[in-house]
Amino acid sequence: MIAPSILAADFARLAEAAAALEGVADWLHVDVMDNHFVPNLTLGLPVAQSLLAATSMPLDCHLMIEDPDRWAPAYAEAGAAGVTFHVEAARAPIRLAREIRAAGAKAGLALRPATPVDQYVDLLPELDLLLVMTVEPGFGGQSFLDAMLPKIRRTRDLVRGRELELRIQVDGGVSASTIAACAEAGADTFVSGSAVFGADDAALAVADLRRIAEAGRPPIDSG
Ligand code: DX5
Ligand code: ZN
Repeated sequence: MIAPSILAADFARLAEAAAALEGVADWLHVDVMDNHFVPNLTLGLPVAQSLLAATSMPLDCHLMIEDPDRWAPAYAEAGAAGVTFHVEAARAPIRLAREIRAAGAKAGLALRPATPVDQYVDLLPELDLLLVMTVEPGFGGQSFLDAMLPKIRRTRDLVRGRELELRIQVDGGVSASTIAACAEAGADTFVSGSAVFGADDAALAVADLRRIAEAGRPPIDSG
């Protein structure tokens, strides 16, 4: 799945950005930043609610905020398809994932680059998505950290060994030149901001990313 990040779109024209990708991309990735968990400040629940009313695309809300225990369920209640919070910020991640699911959204857990996945193995059955950040969260347009490829691979091994239904998402610096390595390592859900909205034709950029990711996908294990 390809989830273009509106962080790289024109914030005065978000509905148009969404309309250009309807039927082309799978999810619209919405980066919520609070100027505390990360240094940047973007948008919050009112803008997500307006977007939900303006587009039929499923919203994939990535909360880079302090105290997600308090704020995350409201995004699910508003109708977001997925709500992803950072494990470094959550006080009670299992309870929060259950609240998000109970409100009808997919529950996602995000890991900053320095956060290892292994200590969260017991949480995986509570989740629909694990987000491996491939840049330090906070800004679009940063360079992909290829040091994260082993973590993607490790997450894929953990999921495979447990027969979980868990999407493995990558976010940060994902472009035509890095997406194949992510797919090859085991990611199946790709966030991309500047490589989509920085392109002349955003829809074409999504189609290109999808084609390259599918070519880089490892063969299905028949054993
Ligand atoms: C970064 C955000 C990303 C960002 C990705 O903290 O979580 O979703 O929009 O932007 P690019 O694709 O430009 O790295
Ligand atoms: Zn994001």
